[in-house]
Amino acid sequence: MKNTFGTSVSLTVFGESHGPFIGAVLDGLAPGIEVNEEDIKHALTLRRPAGRISTARQEKDEYVIASGVFEGKTTGTPIAIIIPNADTRSKDYKKTYGLARPGHADFAAFCKYHGFEDYRGGGHFSGRVTSALVAAGAVARAALAKKEIYLGTHIKELAGVPDRAFGSLKADIDDLYTKVFPVLSSEAEEKMRAEIEKAAADGDSVGALLETVVIGMPAGVGEPYFDSLESVISHMMFAIPGVKGVLFGAGMDFAKMRGSEANDAFRMDENGKVYTKTNNNGGVNGGITNGSPVRFTTVIKPTPSIYKQQQTIDFVNGEEKDISIEGRHDPCIAHRARIVVDSLTAIALCDMLAERYGTDYLAVE
Ligand SMILES: Cc1cc2nc3c(=O)[nH]c(=O)nc-3n(C[C@H](O)[C@H](O)[C@H](O)COP(=O)(O)O)c2cc1C
Repeated sequence: MKNTFGTSVSLTVFGESHGPFIGAVLDGLAPGIEVNEEDIKHALTLRRPAGRISTARQEKDEYVIASGVFEGKTTGTPIAIIIPNADTRSKDYKKTYGLARPGHADFAAFCKYHGFEDYRGGGHFSGRVTSALVAAGAVARAALAKKEIYLGTHIKELAGVPDRAFGSLKADIDDLYTKVFPVLSSEAEEKMRAEIEKAAADGDSVGALLETVVIGMPAGVGEPYFDSLESVISHMMFAIPGVKGVLFGAGMDFAKMRGSEANDAFRMDENGKVYTKTNNNGGVNGGITNGSPVRFTTVIKPTPSIYKQQQTIDFVNGEEKDISIEGRHDPCIAHRARIVVDSLTAIALCDMLAERYGTDYLAVE
């Protein structure tokens, strides 16, 4: 499938950065799930640009739910969400059409779509399109919360500045969801913001690591091999523009460990409930949840559109050129991408839970 993800619960995305609308269709969710408009609005606020450390493009994200919700509840039919694009400045892109922005999708899209692609503002490849995914994700997130499954993401590291590690998981998840700049330590926030501003002043950009935890996932969800929980979540994460890596649990650190350090010892509490003493495997064994929190890290690259002069090609006229990018861009996308990570994780988990227990599992009892 091309712009569609999922088996029991599916997500389709459409739209271009400077077209009239962007949108998403979330299909297969159970009927009767409460859809709280405040949740959707809040999630969209977390994706919106945040002052000096973000693009100057301001979109109100005045979404419309065109189908699938009646009297505040899902009907069980496709939920179609449409968001108009209002703040577009297409002339910035017309001047430079044919000049491939290094690190961006301009040249690759031209090769695939033979020049018919809407190139304005990055077209279908723009981070703008992710706002529709966030609106759909807010519905999925609320459905999970009814099952006491909660998730949250923080900027684990940005330009070499680390955040503190997750502590009390539910409290940290709740705290992160109130923050436009999702870090657990205010000291780290100051340093990270300073790094973004420094890069922006140099006409440059920075990357980051986002770390996500999910609590409350029942043990036994996921398939061995091709539809492992890691595969399905990674499938979603790599759909996010700018994501270049996904690591579960200890991730790269596994390469430095011995088995005796890497293995998560199993224990039982006084009620016979199984738990692991450590969580290096990120809550997944054999592609299947083991009941520990699901934990993974997403690598976000530095924003490709930077103002520094770079070498490129003009793919229309077939010549080497220099490029000085204009337009409005994020010097870092990590803080805005966080809610996209949360949203697509929530939708992936809804799909996997519906596969495991049936569509009505997520219905409110
Ligand atoms: C929320 C969000 C905002 C983004 N903003 C920009 C931006 O302002 N400028 C830019 O060049 N790329 C931006 N990107 C990243 C590009 O869309 C992405 O790097 C590009 O489509 C190429 O895809 P790839 O990096 O996954 O290979 C943004 C991504 C997200 C998720």
